Amino acid sequence: MRERTVHRCSECGSVHLRWGGKCSQCGAWNSLVEERVVPTPRASGSSAPSWAGLTEAVVEPIALGDVSLDGGLPRATGVAELDRSLAGGLVPGSVTLVGGEPGIGKSTLLLQLAAAWATRGGRALIVAAEESAEQVRRRAERLGAAVDGLSILPTSSLPAALEAAERFQPDLLIVDSIQAIADPAVGASGGSVSQVRECAAQLVHYAKRRGVATVLVGHVTKDGALAGPRVLEHLVDTVCSFDGERHHALRILTVTKHRFGPTGELGVFEMTSGGLAGVEDPSKLLLGDRRPGIAGSVVVPVLEGRRPILVELQALVARSSLATPRRSVQGIPAGRLSLAVAVLEQRVGCSLATMDVFVSIVGGVKVSEPAIDLALGLALVSAAVGVPLGADLVACGEVGLGGELRQVVHTDRRLAEAARLGFTRACLPVSAPDPPESMSVVRTASLAEAVLALGLGSARSQR
Ligand code: TYD
Ligand code: MG
Repeated sequence: MRERTVHRCSECGSVHLRWGGKCSQCGAWNSLVEERVVPTPRASGSSAPSWAGLTEAVVEPIALGDVSLDGGLPRATGVAELDRSLAGGLVPGSVTLVGGEPGIGKSTLLLQLAAAWATRGGRALIVAAEESAEQVRRRAERLGAAVDGLSILPTSSLPAALEAAERFQPDLLIVDSIQAIADPAVGASGGSVSQVRECAAQLVHYAKRRGVATVLVGHVTKDGALAGPRVLEHLVDTVCSFDGERHHALRILTVTKHRFGPTGELGVFEMTSGGLAGVEDPSKLLLGDRRPGIAGSVVVPVLEGRRPILVELQALVARSSLATPRRSVQGIPAGRLSLAVAVLEQRVGCSLATMDVFVSIVGGVKVSEPAIDLALGLALVSAAVGVPLGADLVACGEVGLGGELRQVVHTDRRLAEAARLGFTRACLPVSAPDPPESMSVVRTASLAEAVLALGLGSARSQR
């Protein structure tokens, strides 16, 4: 069989016959990488690994009411913040992908997970494709994670790892990382999209057949040098993203896809010299370095999963020297900023057309819910006019295209969290419920009214 060359998008995995600067499927730039395809006959018959030889069970339709509910129950890992984000723990036979930038702490998190699992009587196996057994042992000693029931397999060969797993019979299998492991039978280089996808598919197959909770580490690189976890998202049951700023101790685990429970629940950790420590009071940590009295800063109670968390939203507005001024966001979707800028221009009379605008959520938290709209609008006006909002204020509400304010879900729980942390004023839509007794309220029907009520009124002169 002849060797072919194709170009594959390292973001979405689509195949293109010609190279191009932009992937026509997912729109990613500079993501196409050349890949040699050497068609090899698939392993079959006696050469197939033992776990692949199991025959498919006969499948018959079952009345929905008769379906057993015994399977699919999560097993607590013992790492509280992980169990919180995974809605209880890891489900036997499920495959979880943990994506994140190199150096963010994925290996540390999973080593702690494996140790906690083993401590609870499980059999955990870490396939270390990037580090030597000695390196892992040293780290485990430091973290107090060198426990009975935790074994390590240093190899970058997938068939070797699966054969060993077949003998060892773990109930938790961790592969660190999916980009560093390869199956020589796949005629593509390690870390390429074909390798990553084929290895993940084999691991999914193994996990399902043997009922082993499996966790795959996937590095995410901004330059697309490695095949991104996005090419695996449809293969696995659960997709987590482990984020944080490298120079900041806070790490956040977000579940973006979960076949066994709700998504959106955050696991919050702090990277310490003794490994990752769960953070029970994230609001306190997130607001810890806040300096009151800075224009453009507004605190907003967001609801990630069931837990309200207070985050600081910061905006910076500066005169631009560019024909198309900069719009930069960190932690919120770019679309929310565009909307806020348009509403400010059309409904509030505050034009940012000639200004560079930077918005960020402090601490590396990502928020996508519309509940930040009001705080975003207020932060932008505050930054534009250079007038700080009171340090005791939180703002929470959705802004419509007409500039009108709408109440958001669970305002009461958000405000209770704000009151707990000592905030005494809330800026809310008219329809929102009353805040706790310790808080006073500024109620307005529109963003324009909120701007006036909070003393940012000179914004009108910015037109
Ligand atoms: P690591 O888990 O190796 O990251 P990843 O697997 O995502 O590439 O973590 C790397 C960083 O974490 C490293 O720069 C040092 C830091 N770290 C600590 O601060 N404390 C610790 O106890 C450990 C184990 C790591
Ligand atoms: Mg690592």
